[in-house]
Amino acid sequence: METVIIKGNIISAPEFGKLEITENGYLIAEDGKIKGTYQKLPQEYENAFIEDYGDALVMQSFSDMHLHAPQYPMLGIGMDRPLLEWLNTYTFPTEARFADKDFARTTYHRLAGELAAKGTTRVCMFSSIHREATLILMEELENAGITGYVGKVNMDRNGGENYLETTEESISETVRWLEECHFEHIKPMITPRFTPSCSKELMQELGKIAKEKNLPIQSHLSENTSELDLVKSLHPDCTQYWESYQKYGLWNDKTLMAHCVWSDETERKAIKEAGVWAVHCAASNENLVSGYAPVRVMMNEGLNVVLGSDIAGGDHLSMFKNITAAIRASKARRIMDDRKTEFLSVIEAFYLGTSAAAPFFGEKPGFAPGNALHAIVVEDRTLPVVRPLSIRERLERCIYRREHGCVLAVFSEGKKIYKK
Ligand code: GUN
Ligand code: FE
Repeated sequence: METVIIKGNIISAPEFGKLEITENGYLIAEDGKIKGTYQKLPQEYENAFIEDYGDALVMQSFSDMHLHAPQYPMLGIGMDRPLLEWLNTYTFPTEARFADKDFARTTYHRLAGELAAKGTTRVCMFSSIHREATLILMEELENAGITGYVGKVNMDRNGGENYLETTEESISETVRWLEECHFEHIKPMITPRFTPSCSKELMQELGKIAKEKNLPIQSHLSENTSELDLVKSLHPDCTQYWESYQKYGLWNDKTLMAHCVWSDETERKAIKEAGVWAVHCAASNENLVSGYAPVRVMMNEGLNVVLGSDIAGGDHLSMFKNITAAIRASKARRIMDDRKTEFLSVIEAFYLGTSAAAPFFGEKPGFAPGNALHAIVVEDRTLPVVRPLSIRERLERCIYRREHGCVLAVFSEGKKIYKK
């Protein structure tokens, strides 16, 4: 039996809006699974090795539920266009570069390492249209100890120069890619880019493959008003955007839909009834001037809401920064809503960046016994001190403000995948 014992101030979010804190406690895992959180070391572990992090904070690691791996090299550039122009001007030419396997290898190696170092241990990620680069991405993530899902992107219309598949290619390459996936912790996910990129025939086939192979699905929904108009013109029979996915079997409780900025009450009801997951990508929505998603309303209505960095619409991989982006967006939304809607508290947003995704991966929120050990250790002792802070205050401050190199260690699936 392999035992991991982490000592420090243990923090987790077992419920939306709730924190569980064990000061100077022990987080124990056996064979990669959490046994429990303890105030005193149980006697049976008296002689075991302890990873003692002293007064540091030991918290859940992050789940980034929507990001585009091939957009990593364009992080921080090209923020001057709205979505559809941004895709054609910057994004498609960048993603087209991943036909080059060497470029894919070096870029994805670096991305995987940066994710681990920033404490993101679970992802749902878009690759490019390239089968081989997608397998390279999966391998690099697997080797870095990251877990979750990756999708080869499907696009057979409205692409860019050298960045489009025929319908037949898109289907046959997807089938071949699925046969070639053989990774322990990184699994495949069906990934129609979004309705404007996929013909009806392609959507139909992808829906069939997802059903036959019981695969999760990811795409984009109601991000931008020009996109809504485009979808309306492509699917005049659909009253709302979401119907264009539902019609082809791409709308169920294993579907992640990024954005949902412009999803009205009817669309949100459809999201809730199908158990679809809304991935809130606040930084991206602001950068591409898409809008402010009614994230707090979605929570109140009982939707499954999780967070995504959506790089490179989003400008930061760090989920600490994406959590604060979500808080700010919810406050902007409150201002826009005549202060009639609530905003996200720090604790609520921390839950969205960590525990909220747990059921998508078949787990329980927080450091629940039986969950795989996914945790990070963060140090804040180099920050200025005005008075002794509570653990809760220290978590809040860490989320908003950290020193470079504050992440001391990252654990994923019970293994230490990063050490400062
Ligand atoms: N909609 C379709 N493709 C994309 C993409 O790459 N990024 C974002 N933010 N929205 C999209
Ligand atoms: Fe996206």
